[in-house]
Amino acid sequence: MTISKVLIIGGGLMGNGIAQVCAQAGLSVLITDINQEILDRGLKNIAWSVGKFIEKGKVKESLESVMGRIRTSTDWGNAPGADLAIEAVFEKLELKHEIFKRLDEVCGSETIFATNTSAIPITEIAAVSKRQEKVLGLHFFSPVPMMEAVEVIKGVRTSEETMRAGVDFVRSIGKEPIRVESDVPGFLLNRINLVGYVEAIHLLEQGIGTVEDIDKGVRLAFGRRMGPLETGDLVGLDVSYGALTAIYEESKDVRYYPPQLLRRKVKSGELGRKTGRGWYEYNPDGSKKEK
Ligand code: NAI
Repeated sequence: MTISKVLIIGGGLMGNGIAQVCAQAGLSVLITDINQEILDRGLKNIAWSVGKFIEKGKVKESLESVMGRIRTSTDWGNAPGADLAIEAVFEKLELKHEIFKRLDEVCGSETIFATNTSAIPITEIAAVSKRQEKVLGLHFFSPVPMMEAVEVIKGVRTSEETMRAGVDFVRSIGKEPIRVESDVPGFLLNRINLVGYVEAIHLLEQGIGTVEDIDKGVRLAFGRRMGPLETGDLVGLDVSYGALTAIYEESKDVRYYPPQLLRRKVKSGELGRKTGRGWYEYNPDGSKKEK
C-alpha cells in the first residue's frame, strides 16, 4: 500500500515534526488540533525549520512547495482521504481513546491508524478501534526532522501487512524503521534511554555531578550529540515523567521509578524548553541562559 496522504491529530512538538518530514518527502498532510491558533503557531515553526533545511541544502525544493503540501484544520470532516492517520495528542489514554473512536468514523475503511505514544501500550490504545489489525505504533523521536530512527511497534492484534506498510512508510519519508515485535512498556529504545536518564537525575540529586558536567561528559565520552538532561529538556520533563510512570506501573521495575527531583520539577511547572526552565534555563529565543 502506498501512503501519499497523511492525517496528523495533534499539532504540538511531535505532530508538527512528523508533518514536516512527511511534507519534505512529498506527501500531503492535514494537521488537526483543538484550535486554529495552535495550528497557526505550528505552521510558523514548521516553516522556520524547513527554511533551515533549505539553507543547508538538505531540502532542494522551495519553501512554498513544501509548505503547500501542509493543510491545517480544526475540522475532522476533511479527513476521509487519508491513507495513514498518526495520533500525536497528549499522553492520556482517555484522550487517545476518544481520538481512535472518532478516527473509525471519519476515515475510510483502508486507512491505517498509528499512535506516537511514548509509553502507553499500543494494544491498549487500539482496544477501542474497530480495526485493531490496522493499528500500530509509529514512535518518532524528538526533534523529528533530525532524528532518523522511528520505532514501528506491533500491538497484539496488529497484522503483518500493517507492520510492513509502517516500515515502508518510514523508509519513504527518509527515516530508518526499527521494528518492535512485542508491545512491551517503553518499547525498545526508551527502555534503554530512560534508565540512563533516571541515573543522571539520581547522580544530580546526590550532588555527585552538575547538570553541565553530566551532559558534557556523556557528549564527549560517548560521542552523543546531546547529554541526557539537555535531551530531557527538549523532550519535556512531563513527557519523560509520564513515560516513566507508565513503564513503572506496568512493569514494577524500580529502574523506571521517576526520581523525586523529576516529580518536583514537573509539579512546579519546570517542564524544559517549552516553559523556559527545566534542567537548564532558556532565553525567550530558545537559547540556553549562561550561568
Ligand atoms: P504537545 O503537548 O507538544 O502536543 C500535543 C498536542 O495535542 C497539543 O497541540 C494539543 O492541543 C493537541 N490536542 C490535545 N487534545 C486534542 C484533540 N482532542 N484533538 C486534536 N489535538 C489535540 O505534545 P508532544 O510532545 O507533541 O507529544 C505528543 C505525543 O507524542 C504524546 O503521546 C507523547 O508521549 C509522544 N511523544 C513525545 C515525544 C517528545 O519528545 N515530546 C517523543 C515521542 C513521543
